[in-house]
Amino acid sequence: MILVTGGAGFIGSNFVLDWIASTDEPVVNLDVLSYSGNLRNLASLQGNTRHVFVRGDICDRPLIDQLLAEHRPRAIVHLAAESHVDRSIHGPGAFLRSNVEGTFVLLEAVRAHWSGLAAAEREAFRFLHVSTDEVFGSLEPEAPAFTETHCYDPSSPYAASKAASDHLARAWHRTYDLPVVTTNCSNNYGPYQFPEKLIPLTIVNALAGKALPVYGDGLQVRDWLYVGDHCSAIRTVLERGRVGEVYNIGGWNESANIDTVRCVCNLLDELRPDPLGSNDRLIRFVTDRPGHDRRYAIDARKIGRELGWRPAETFETGIRKTVEWYLTHADWVREVQSGSYRDWVAQNYATRTAGPA
Ligand code: NAD
Ligand code: DAU
Repeated sequence: MILVTGGAGFIGSNFVLDWIASTDEPVVNLDVLSYSGNLRNLASLQGNTRHVFVRGDICDRPLIDQLLAEHRPRAIVHLAAESHVDRSIHGPGAFLRSNVEGTFVLLEAVRAHWSGLAAAEREAFRFLHVSTDEVFGSLEPEAPAFTETHCYDPSSPYAASKAASDHLARAWHRTYDLPVVTTNCSNNYGPYQFPEKLIPLTIVNALAGKALPVYGDGLQVRDWLYVGDHCSAIRTVLERGRVGEVYNIGGWNESANIDTVRCVCNLLDELRPDPLGSNDRLIRFVTDRPGHDRRYAIDARKIGRELGWRPAETFETGIRKTVEWYLTHADWVREVQSGSYRDWVAQNYATRTAGPA
């Protein structure tokens, strides 16, 4: 079996669902159920004995030791993290705790467990560290996309905490031979994404007739990957990735934020027309994010060349599936828009004044 951390979050729950559907192997899912972790994402697995959910913190060493001893996983897929850049600007402490200390505790616990395995099990074991393209910092408009050897230059507390965790994972491989493989992926979108991130925020705000906030001039560029493709890439790297290596994962879909928001508006106009007019009337340019990276682009040729992985979705197909999912999951949206979500929206957007048009 494998042990997944953060498996009740956006990517984690998609990964667990995908794993159960596409393999025969059980999964232990360790998640603290922070604001972005939601067991409802996993409701379809209720009663499925191949999914063992454990509510707990990756900083809790005795718990990790106990889970490793009890379940003896052959691999760890480490996704648990604080993940939202804007929240990291308001409160970086939680990011250092979960992303840096949490990864350290996990690496140490796994190292102790792995050292005690028989030679063949030790050889087959993998620690897959899931990371982000944000560790590389910002690219100039015409610069080539990030390769795996691009230097680290993180801008936000979130990116810095993920960069630190990447360095820890790499050091645990070089120093202790722990069989670590790292992935750095671009912006994901798809079902179950918490509506604090750009795409789901745009969808849920438009459906409620609320303003669609675009930071700064909206010309920041992101590379977008459908979450199902990220899950298939993680499975591929787990199966065939070389120990000690890093694999970039991306969708070859660069888009300026304003174009991404307009694309969502157009789809909603088609799928759920609003009698008051096109959704793009709701777009508002607002105060920029401090330290906002201008452009990310991922060169995903290595994972294609070495492991044969390619994304199955284009942005057009993936974004249509995503908008349709949010349209048909109004209950899920309502449930996650709890009091703490409303507090966050007030904190992040109340002080953002109108910006450049
Ligand atoms: P998310 O915020 O939706 O989910 C994170 C999950 O981790 C939640 O379920 C949360 O409860 C859990 N968690 C947080 N701290 C924990 C702790 N201390 N112990 C146990 N569980 C904890 O985030 P996501 O978007 O699904 O991201 C998952 C991972 O993928 C993160 O490591 C993130 O850095 C990485 N990543 C995300 C993207 C993206 O676009 N969303 C892109 C590349 C990489
Ligand atoms: O690149 C991978 C990263 O993508 C992941 O590591 C992070 O976990 C994930 O949150 C995401 O980070 P971003 O900061 O790029 O995602 P977010 O959805 O917050 O913002 C996307 C872009 O949209 C970014 O340039 C900021 C902008 N934005 C965001 C929000 C929430 C807006 O213009 N308005 C908004 O209200």
